[in-house]
Amino acid sequence: MSNIVSVVSQNEVAVITINNPPVNALSAEVRSGLLDALTQAQADKSIFAIVIQCEGRTFIAGADIKEFGQTPKLPHLPDVVLAIANSSVPIIAALHGSVLGGGFEIALACQYRVGLKGTTLGLPEVNLGLIPGAGGTQLLPRVLGLSKAMNMIITGKSIKLPDTADNALVHAVTDSDVLACALEFSHTFVKSSGGQKLNNKIVEQDDAEDIKQHALKNLVSKRKGQTAPLKALEAIMYTTQYSLEEGMKKSRKLFLECRDSPQSAAMRYAFFAEKKAQKPKLPSISAPLKNIEKVTVIGAGTMGAGIAMCLLASGLSVYLLEINAENLERGMSYIKNTLSSSVKKGRISEQQAFEQLARLTGTTEYSSIADSHLVIEAAFESMVVKQDIFAKLEATVSTECILASNTSYLDIDEIAYVVTHKSRVIGLHFFSPAHIMKLLEIVKTKHTDTNVISSCMAFAKTIKKQAALVGMCYGFVGNRMYASYGREANFLLLEGCSPEQIDKALVDFGMAMGPLAVNDMSGIDIGYKARKENPNLSVDPAYFLAANLLVDSGRLGQKTGSGFYAYDEKLNRTSDPIVMDIFKNAAQKLNIVPQSYTSEEISERLVLALINEGANILQESIAENAEVIDTIWLNGYGFPRYYGGPMFYAQQLGWKYVKEKLLALHQQTGKDWWKPSTYIDSLL
Ligand code: 3HC
Repeated sequence: MSNIVSVVSQNEVAVITINNPPVNALSAEVRSGLLDALTQAQADKSIFAIVIQCEGRTFIAGADIKEFGQTPKLPHLPDVVLAIANSSVPIIAALHGSVLGGGFEIALACQYRVGLKGTTLGLPEVNLGLIPGAGGTQLLPRVLGLSKAMNMIITGKSIKLPDTADNALVHAVTDSDVLACALEFSHTFVKSSGGQKLNNKIVEQDDAEDIKQHALKNLVSKRKGQTAPLKALEAIMYTTQYSLEEGMKKSRKLFLECRDSPQSAAMRYAFFAEKKAQKPKLPSISAPLKNIEKVTVIGAGTMGAGIAMCLLASGLSVYLLEINAENLERGMSYIKNTLSSSVKKGRISEQQAFEQLARLTGTTEYSSIADSHLVIEAAFESMVVKQDIFAKLEATVSTECILASNTSYLDIDEIAYVVTHKSRVIGLHFFSPAHIMKLLEIVKTKHTDTNVISSCMAFAKTIKKQAALVGMCYGFVGNRMYASYGREANFLLLEGCSPEQIDKALVDFGMAMGPLAVNDMSGIDIGYKARKENPNLSVDPAYFLAANLLVDSGRLGQKTGSGFYAYDEKLNRTSDPIVMDIFKNAAQKLNIVPQSYTSEEISERLVLALINEGANILQESIAENAEVIDTIWLNGYGFPRYYGGPMFYAQQLGWKYVKEKLLALHQQTGKDWWKPSTYIDSLL
């Protein structure tokens, strides 16, 4: 018997306990330990039931993801699941924490499940480019029916155990001791009933084909470009044709195809990359992290209001500060309206909306924010405005208060110039809409204290954001790379590509939206103003010329009804031949020769621009590692997760290939930015 799986007999019930911290993942040792424990328990004739429970913060949270990609070790998980399903002694799973993936499959194979209130149950394998590989696709439809099972498996979304057992998923719910609940259930119910047999029959539902078509249209289509959701659908449909054991064998084949696919390798990489980004290498500190409960947001525009809503939803108290009552009122109304629409859509309850608003205080007076633990400035992107705010903050809040700027590109060291205690100044760069987007770029300056950085990393977790720590440079990591990507889209416009052609190429590649449609949505004038404020960015006359010409002709994007595209009142997008004339004239003046490009050439050029800039960022140590960059691109810019992020994608292409392509572009264009980063040489 392994140390991590033990079995003890408790009043005629065998209690099997798994203790494999941190999340009781199903490593080879756990799998073989479980089989041994089952054999031992089943051999004991005094036992009438078996309970499987876990030590620590959670039940089994899934297969051990680190084992995928390595030589498989026996016993395989489906064999453990089948041994449980076919047990002659009834088995009760005692659930708490996160019952996910292989953990949920084990629980579904048990004849009974009891759980702690609030336990989450789910099959999130699609998020790793997989399908449930140990019978989840065969067991769940037999418990919940086809429709609900498809919904859970294809979306990968978990459900939370309610107060009472109200469906076939769990047979008893407790809000205290789950083992005690399982033992009581064994004695009061299982002993007298003698246990039930697991349902291994073929699923017979007249509407099976309709459910499949509905899932294809509404669930699979939302995971554009991914192969696992389609395979999951196929596997779930096996339940309508095959017995449990036959269906398990066939679905295992689909699982193995997914496991060995580049998509799953990329998505598993992304899972660990995000964890790594949350743990930057920092000098160890002895002082406790700063307590952040009261936060001031300065600026009640779309960004400030979005940040405030994100903080309120995480249980924090928020001061929203504006320069005048009119601006404040606009921001407060926006928040109230957004909350009330969330109530209408059933996303939050009326009580939750009420509680959130009760924690929000609008003000125009700096004196009212004196007790803040953290201030996030989200005012107009102007150094003068920001320095004025930081000087006022210095005179208002305690020296312990963290001062953060939400600037997207300004030099935070320069903003901090007006502050005496510069070590508490940091960048907290949210992405719009801030209450929805996952990413938080945390920008350390020359002076930022380690405790302030660590406190902000912990704060990101509190507000359920994916943190990525970066250093200071123009645009930080995300927007600096985005500029190189947008730069190439602009060059291609001058070389004769249409906005539709460019956007379609990137959407076909897998980006959530094309770069020009995004620019129209966010406002072309924002980048334009930023470039004007920083004339040294590039001396190339064609640098962002296409965008600049549109702004000069009053086409700022959706807000003016025209930009790279034309828009109607409902913001439906259509192509506008005028823009191509503008670009053609400009290109002629600069002697740029029109060229024709395939979709693949367009997307490759933009992605190569990202990769080379990412490599420069690593060379300059602005990001600690490639995982930080990929985390930023996955969570802030809609880079397809099934490619892992631009740096992982480059690795999959092969750095030798990337370098050759960059050299070719350098030779072809003569532009310095195509010189392969010296970081790439270090990888060859
Ligand atoms: N395998 C290996 N390591 C895992 C793991 C897993 N399934 N799940 C979590 N971990 C590791 C994390 O990498 C992290 O390691 P670190 O401390 O070295 O960085 C540690 O456990 C703690 O994880 P979190 O920081 O994420 O802890 P949280 O408390 O925030 O979240 C969790 C816990 C909800 C369980 C979350 O970790 C999670 O969602 N894990 C993945 C669950 C999952 O995808 N399961 C399905 C796996 S695939 C499968 O089961 C296939 C099967 O069908 C055959």
